[in-house]
Amino acid sequence: MAGVWSIILLSIFIVSDRSNAMRGYFWHISDLHWDPSYDLGSTSASKCASSGDRPTPNAGIFGDYSCDSPWTLINSTLNAMRDIMPNPDFIIWTGDDTPHVPNEQLGVEPVLRIIGNLTHIIKTTFPKTKVYSAMGNHDYHPKSQMPPEKNNIYEQTANMWHDWLHSTSKETFKIGGYYTEKLLNQTGLRVVVLNTNLYYDQNKLTENIKDPADQFSWADKVLQDAAKNNEKVYIIGHVPPGFFEKKRDKAWFRKEFNKRYIDLIQKHSAVIQGQFFGHHHTDSFRMFYSSKGSPISTIFVTPGVTPWITTLPGVINGGNNPGIRMFEYDTKTLLVKDMFTYYMNLTYSNKVHERWEKEYRLTEAFRVPDASPASMHSVMERIASDKCYLQKYYEFNSVNYDLTECNADCRIDHVCAVREVDFEAYEKCVVKEGGSSTAPVLFTLLLSLILSLLCLN
Ligand SMILES: *[C@@H]1O[C@H](CO)[C@@H](O)[C@H](O)[C@H]1NC(C)=O
Ligand SMILES: *[C@@H]1O[C@H](CO)[C@@H](O)[C@H](O)[C@H]1NC(C)=O
Ligand SMILES: *[C@@H]1O[C@H](CO)[C@@H](O)[C@H](O)[C@H]1NC(C)=O
Ligand SMILES: *[C@@H]1O[C@H](CO)[C@@H](O)[C@H](O)[C@H]1NC(C)=O
Ligand SMILES: [Zn+2]
Ligand SMILES: [Zn+2]
Repeated sequence: MAGVWSIILLSIFIVSDRSNAMRGYFWHISDLHWDPSYDLGSTSASKCASSGDRPTPNAGIFGDYSCDSPWTLINSTLNAMRDIMPNPDFIIWTGDDTPHVPNEQLGVEPVLRIIGNLTHIIKTTFPKTKVYSAMGNHDYHPKSQMPPEKNNIYEQTANMWHDWLHSTSKETFKIGGYYTEKLLNQTGLRVVVLNTNLYYDQNKLTENIKDPADQFSWADKVLQDAAKNNEKVYIIGHVPPGFFEKKRDKAWFRKEFNKRYIDLIQKHSAVIQGQFFGHHHTDSFRMFYSSKGSPISTIFVTPGVTPWITTLPGVINGGNNPGIRMFEYDTKTLLVKDMFTYYMNLTYSNKVHERWEKEYRLTEAFRVPDASPASMHSVMERIASDKCYLQKYYEFNSVNYDLTECNADCRIDHVCAVREVDFEAYEKCVVKEGGSSTAPVLFTLLLSLILSLLCLN
């Protein structure tokens, strides 16, 4: 019954802060990656299939950093969400439900069963709440091979999500894994859920297709109509465009798709009030600028629930604590006002007792008035120019898992990934940011020592 814990304080804080009637809240969760094989009773060196034979000597009741989530962690996560904010206006769920295991250990039936289990626990924990749900690249078999056409998995998933989808949404979902509807049936507000797995470079089925499942032309029309009807829009998806901040030059989208996505956002930025993605398992964000250079849109990348240390070559110790995120927004304009990230210190919860706590509140941690594109641009500038903010951002990036220092190379990786979604602009940023750090070594060391002494919070 660690259910009530440190959250009480926060709840009081939120309630007392609720002076403005335009304020609403919603959850965003992602990358639950349930590993049904997790078994503390196992006699082998590894307690789960998703560790890929990495030993798990510290495995505990809520999981292990080398494993995907055990059911106890999934259950704990949903309970924590209910304890913190039981009646959100809606929930955004951006996919990746199955464990990181070879295709041979899964199959269409196991993948659908796992999606069904997670759908079930979300539905039973939040029976009255609308969920906007996007598929992740792990929600298909074989993984990442989402077809640009009708298939059994889209069909079965649409049926499982029946209560969350309008009938028109169900139709497009079955064809391309995407849909749009009015946000909570309200005039002037809209949600666009994309299937960006179609743009993932691992997806062999969409390699030579210009507009897989006609999603780009569909989205273009939806956003154009939204402008005509004076609507504001949230965009939701799993794999984001741009670069992974933990590995230099690592992008997910194919080049032409990345370009086309940026064009889409630039063209329709006047109606888009926020973009919500997962896939990274880390906490970060991505900026979009107009051709004149002013900030026009932000992707909020939410951390994963799975603590799984990535096996992506070149990433060192890329694990995270389980994280969940609540947004505060203006219910009339969809302006994103604030962001609260909560987490479970997995080591602590395994050792002492189940505990979820607030990690940070965006406006407080980065001293900005809200989470608008202009404010997020300021956050980015602070991270780029101030070692204290960089280090704070870096610790949040892994949800307080990796507390080592973010050095000069690390700074370039993160700053350029956040600032530049475009492939060429990113390359230029890496050269430019790298070039500016040629100050004499001793001076740089001294300066960073002085600055780190000044990081008071
Ligand atoms: C799920 O969490 C509830 C509330 O903490 C607890 O009573 C229940 O035993 C948990 N179930 C599992 C399977 O962990
Ligand atoms: C998952 O769903 C299957 C039915 O599809 C059910 O038999 C099983 O008990 C569920 N597991 C959990 C942990 O809820
Ligand atoms: C939303 O609107 C659709 C179509 O008008 C209707 O079928 C549905 O019942 C409404 N849902 C809610 C929750 O009001
Ligand atoms: C997490 O818990 C462990 C064990 O209690 C502790 O050593 C560590 O400092 C904690 N991490 C954070 C970020 O609080
Ligand atoms: Zn994932
Ligand atoms: Zn993914």
